[in-house]
Amino acid sequence: MSLLLGRNTFGDISNKGNLLSKEEAFQLFHEWVLNPKLQLHMKQVAHLMKCWASEKENLSSDDEWKWEMTGLLHDADWDQWPDLHCKKIIEELEIRNIDPEVMHAIASHGPVHFGVEPETKMDQMLYAFDELSGLIHAYSLMRPEGYTGMELKGVKKRLKEKSFAANVSREDIQDACNRAQIGLDELIEFIIAKQPSVS
Ligand SMILES: [Fe+2]
Ligand SMILES: [Fe+2]
Repeated sequence: MSLLLGRNTFGDISNKGNLLSKEEAFQLFHEWVLNPKLQLHMKQVAHLMKCWASEKENLSSDDEWKWEMTGLLHDADWDQWPDLHCKKIIEELEIRNIDPEVMHAIASHGPVHFGVEPETKMDQMLYAFDELSGLIHAYSLMRPEGYTGMELKGVKKRLKEKSFAANVSREDIQDACNRAQIGLDELIEFIIAKQPSVS
């Protein structure tokens, strides 16, 4: 089964700046995503996107929400419609006349799977946070103290252990860092600092 989207452009440029309200986004999130583990993953990625937008990119509060909303909804169709992963949420956001940049970022969160390249910084950061935050969360679950006292070197050790969180693609993580031109260490430190506050 292929998840390739077969296209590179999404939505309508005249919808630039159109976003869901927080209420609408969370309503969609709760209607579509029933699995609590997946919900947590999506909330973690949303929070990382928001923090990165405000602290590293100095974006406006509107753009901050754009990044957060993109993170929050990137896997919205994965729970109930895995065969339509990416396709269904993109079509839904197109119907709702959402900013094309949101759909493009969602479409490029797995270039190998969906066939869309992460081009903008928002695309690249979503791609970068997606896999790495999952690995770091898995690491927190095996530590008695969870995230408390977690260090960069511990995460790097887990990354080298191929059997640990084996479904997390190390290649994608490195590829994402290269594309975003961010060092792996910086990204890990950022996630360790921001992720624990999400529940
Ligand atoms: Fe996904
Ligand atoms: Fe994801």
